[in-house]
Amino acid sequence: MACGFALNSILVTGGCGFVGSAFVRYVVREHPGVHVTVLDALTYAGNPQNIACLPRNRAELVVGDVCDAKLVRDLVAKADAVVHFAAETHNDRSIADPAPFVKTNVEGTFTLIEACRQLDVRYHHVSTDEVFGDLPLDSPARFTEESAYRPSSPYSSSKAAADMLVRAWVRTYGLRATISICSNNYGLYQHVEKFIPRQITNLIDGARPKLYGDGRHVRDWIHVEDHSSAVWQILTRGCVGETYLIGADGERDNLSVLRELLRAFGRDGDDFDWVRDRAGHDRRYAIDNSKLRRLGWTPTHTDFSSGLADTIAWYKAHEDWWRPAKEATEALYREREGGARGGCCG
Ligand code: NAD
Ligand code: TYD
Repeated sequence: MACGFALNSILVTGGCGFVGSAFVRYVVREHPGVHVTVLDALTYAGNPQNIACLPRNRAELVVGDVCDAKLVRDLVAKADAVVHFAAETHNDRSIADPAPFVKTNVEGTFTLIEACRQLDVRYHHVSTDEVFGDLPLDSPARFTEESAYRPSSPYSSSKAAADMLVRAWVRTYGLRATISICSNNYGLYQHVEKFIPRQITNLIDGARPKLYGDGRHVRDWIHVEDHSSAVWQILTRGCVGETYLIGADGERDNLSVLRELLRAFGRDGDDFDWVRDRAGHDRRYAIDNSKLRRLGWTPTHTDFSSGLADTIAWYKAHEDWWRPAKEATEALYREREGGARGGCCG
């Protein structure tokens, strides 16, 4: 299998979302010779402001759908490589309405890998550790590249299906692809529907944060900047046909993260609401990142408290960015939570 790869022009799907835009900003900042074309449908989760600060001659936005085969083929034909972030990504939305998840995550991936195989273009596929389902609490086990796929939700099963397509296209057609599987990201520009920004913006508004179930669920947090550098490392140094797990040894339970946020706002550690648990809620994710470290990657944003403080400061300074989405997001949550209580006292 070929290792090592040089490139001048890349197509990044979903480059107006949280993780995709961080990757685009990272490439423009760190790799001046590379031109980026972003393909993004600008769904509720995509915001062109996330890349608006970048020079037009370095990063160009094409508004369109990854399921549009003709558009995808035209853009893939001009690229040395494709990095595929575009997806429907929120578990709670996937439970309420799974159809867009199957459409974008499965059909969108199919459309991209078909174009890449026909035009023999290098493809990198961005996936999530949620494809493995969950691990028990209080166990030292972590996910590895050999872990079995056992997705729990419509979101994670649609991502798992997409990964399977990529693997089959590598084996059957010789698609020049790599896959990365990352744990939960945090950082700037994350949509207010996700756990950390939802609680930060609630606290800015003087509202009470919301904790699902008993709050003991564990996520393996990685700063989005470290995800970007890892994807770049895999794209340029990874071996075609291989999967790499991305994580930064950042396991924390949700209650601890919430209490850290409450402390940062000078609020009492119990000043939050327990709410109804998510159906099928995964207990614990944890990544063994040894294979990626052997490829020469190390995370640099490993101080979670300091990363969280920077994230809080950013949301305080960028209310204009998140405010337009906040009320509609909370309205959806009010429907989901329906006033029910969860947790140890629910
Ligand atoms: P996001 O929801 O913030 O952004 C998704 C982006 O994709 C948006 O810009 C949206 O407009 C775009 N998009 C959606 N449907 C599209 C379509 N049909 N055509 C074109 N564009 C479309 O998501 P994110 O958190 O940035 O996640 C990006 C990728 O990273 C996803 O593949 C996700 O599975 C993966 N990932 C995310 C995390 C995380 O913690 N956020 C962790 C591991 C893996
Ligand atoms: P989320 O950000 O939706 O990411 P994922 O489901 O991909 O892990 O949720 C992270 C964790 O936080 C998850 O265990 C669910 C929990 N959670 C809450 O407790 N309260 C909330 O308001 C949200 C949105 C999530």
